[in-house]
Amino acid sequence: MNLNEIAKKMCAKGKGILAADESTGTIAKRFKSINVENLEKNRLNFRQTLFNASAMKEFIGGVILFDETIKQKSTLGPTIPELIFKHGAIPGIKVDKGAKPLAGSSEETITEGLDGLRERLNEYYNLGARFTKWRAVYKISGKFPSIQSIKSNAHALARYAALVQEAKMVPIIEPEVLMDGSHNIDKCYAVTTDVLNECYNELEVHKIDLKGTVLKPNMIVPGTECKDKSSSDEIAKKTLDCLKKNVPNEVPGIAFLSGGQSEIEASKNLNAINKINDTNFLITFSYGRGLQASALKEFGKNQNNIVNIQQAFNHRAKMNGLSSKGEWSEDLEKGPVA
Ligand code: 13P
Repeated sequence: MNLNEIAKKMCAKGKGILAADESTGTIAKRFKSINVENLEKNRLNFRQTLFNASAMKEFIGGVILFDETIKQKSTLGPTIPELIFKHGAIPGIKVDKGAKPLAGSSEETITEGLDGLRERLNEYYNLGARFTKWRAVYKISGKFPSIQSIKSNAHALARYAALVQEAKMVPIIEPEVLMDGSHNIDKCYAVTTDVLNECYNELEVHKIDLKGTVLKPNMIVPGTECKDKSSSDEIAKKTLDCLKKNVPNEVPGIAFLSGGQSEIEASKNLNAINKINDTNFLITFSYGRGLQASALKEFGKNQNNIVNIQQAFNHRAKMNGLSSKGEWSEDLEKGPVA
């Protein structure tokens, strides 16, 4: 498969991406919330339970893994990438080394991980990865995000993308404008516009083949502390408008992060966007919490109750699969689980 075919398969209609690439620190927070010890065997157990679920074949086009997971063997024999491949999805890998303090800006971050990336990419390719992820983070607060943060993170994303395409993998470009704060939806729209513009400027400078990329953006939503709440219809309209104005047509797939939305909000908003999607973009999900929160709760109740954990995951995967086609409805949330 060439890069464009891989990108289209990851975001195929009715399917999306499972972001199971929490770093050891992030999964520690998730496990703490369900009183599970953050041990390698528990991380493997939770993740392989999801990768073996029946929803994988129908609703998941790609799975983003963390360094530890891509090197693990499932307890049933195959390696984790082999298991994902067997279930019809493409294995991918988070390759950034996290958001670190940005020198010269007191409250912002720059995503690191470019040093030695070429060698790591070759290793990941040999382990079975066919796409990668790099997340840049922007916070809205007072004068932030600064031009320094917008420019430096876009530059790093473009250098990352160039190395990834050289290694014959599809880069997911993830510029995440955080939901934290009291800003309104129009501020989110304005900041996301600036961020996307700078990213695509840099991607052009670095001669990235956009047909072989996937964009993973935030939706256009008000800050979590904003008094003015927005309807799904407003979120959908503003999100689609922002993407149409700032994302080049050659980009085949756009897969949103859930960013702290509840599972149902994330499905409802994605559905509303797809209902009015009049573009050629394949618009879908690349959710972490939006796909795993209920399954994680079941895992916390009983780590060995594979049926309940998989049922919770199957249901969310199915709901989001429907949302990627604009066919989700609130009633389906009450229906029998998949
Ligand atoms: P959430 O959907 O939980 O925001 O995670 C997606 C992700 O991969 C963040 O980098």
